[in-house]
Amino acid sequence: MEALHPETNLLSLSKVCKSFKKTGGEEHLVLDGVNLEINEGEIVALLGRSGSGKSTLLRIISGLARPGSGKVLYCGLPVTGPVKGLAMVFQTFALFPWLTVLENVELGLEAMGVPQAERRRRALAAIDLIGLDGFESAYPKELSGGMRQRVGFARALVVEPTLLLMDEAFSALDVLTAETLRTDLIELWLERRIPTKGILLVSHNIEEAVLLADRIVILGTNPGVVLAEIKIPLEHPRDREATAFRHIVDQVYELMTKRPRSAAGKAEAVPLSYRLPGAHITQLAGLVEALTAEPYNGRADLPEIADQMGFGVDQLFPLLEALEILGFAHTEGGDVELTPSGNSFVDADILRRKVIFAEHVIRHVALVAHIRHILDERPGNRAPEDRFLRELEDFFSEDEAEKILQVAIEWGRYAEQFAYEEGSGILSLENPVSFMCQPEALQPK
Ligand SMILES: Nc1ncnc2c1ncn2[C@@H]1O[C@H](COP(=O)(O)OP(=O)(O)OP(=O)(O)O)[C@@H](O)[C@H]1O
Ligand SMILES: [Mg+2]
Repeated sequence: MEALHPETNLLSLSKVCKSFKKTGGEEHLVLDGVNLEINEGEIVALLGRSGSGKSTLLRIISGLARPGSGKVLYCGLPVTGPVKGLAMVFQTFALFPWLTVLENVELGLEAMGVPQAERRRRALAAIDLIGLDGFESAYPKELSGGMRQRVGFARALVVEPTLLLMDEAFSALDVLTAETLRTDLIELWLERRIPTKGILLVSHNIEEAVLLADRIVILGTNPGVVLAEIKIPLEHPRDREATAFRHIVDQVYELMTKRPRSAAGKAEAVPLSYRLPGAHITQLAGLVEALTAEPYNGRADLPEIADQMGFGVDQLFPLLEALEILGFAHTEGGDVELTPSGNSFVDADILRRKVIFAEHVIRHVALVAHIRHILDERPGNRAPEDRFLRELEDFFSEDEAEKILQVAIEWGRYAEQFAYEEGSGILSLENPVSFMCQPEALQPK
């Protein structure tokens, strides 16, 4: 879409920072100097890993949260509270079950003090626009997930927003429903049947971003800074199979899988290197197996393997990161390639896999090695998980610390580096553990 007034700036963020207080009282810096511009006529997609602060940024833009520092201008004016002319679509909607579709859509206008007759007229128009014609008097429970999401869109569009924000608006829908709704939305936009002048969408789906956006902004993690911006100069409707489309998808994958480096380009200091991606062993094994099989034979194009395994970015990236940390695979240039260790892991039987995993986890995963070391040192070789949780909370948010420890426990248990009692949360060296410290113990005599 050609910008109506290419110079007209809808939204301008400059040096926006936001941190949250952790349990210990320290600050967890989530956004660190984010600059972002949206001009009239633009659809901008914001991509970033889970926890990079995308939703936080949308909340700041909509005036629902205040930045710690930095400037947010909407249509040239500073944002100081909930912004008029701006609407948000979420992953799922809390529709009121006792209200009809029509009444749910009207709600948005009631809050704005629009008179009853006009509310009704505009709500009916929005329902019509989004393809819910005939369902005005239906109740949410009578609708499919896709139709309920349409009600959510209608509720956002009825206020005729100048800027539309979407936070993973399509991600709870099945593939076909999501595609239909995306196509409908882009048609409304291109045909200018909605007065909306700009769209900012957050997504976990790279293809979705390349399909819809004029520009993609990639947000990094810990802290969130804008890592890259990519323009998408493709005409609509876009063909997912076209070379130019695939090229941009590859480029985005490449930018998003670059290993984060510390400022000095060196390995991160110990506490930060404790960070672990949320990757389950069974998924890791599944991905490594798929990579070894035809047609990949050890090396795969990321979008292709993601597609084959039915993984979204948010599922694929933690797995890739885990394989990289463990030394089982290497990601570069939008491709993932198994290392010789990764190959021998696949070739091994169940017991031998554990041995290989144990060797790698102790060598490469500082947190698992640390837990094992502490248990070796402690009288009785026992420690409560809280001990490690508190240690992690000095560096990570409570939430993050818990997730990281869960991963370390899962990996450590699989590698038989320690045992874990579900009820009491006690980590110990009891059970069949210690022989695994000498991996040769399991090798054929
Ligand atoms: N109200 C809050 N209090 C404390 N921490 C918060 C709060 N809101 C967000 N965070 C933290 O800020 C970080 C960014 O969260 P946010 O939800 O913005 O990420 P996101 O990029 O939207 O993630 P996802 O892709 O999983 O939706 C996370 O570490 C989260 O735990
Ligand atoms: Mg989010």
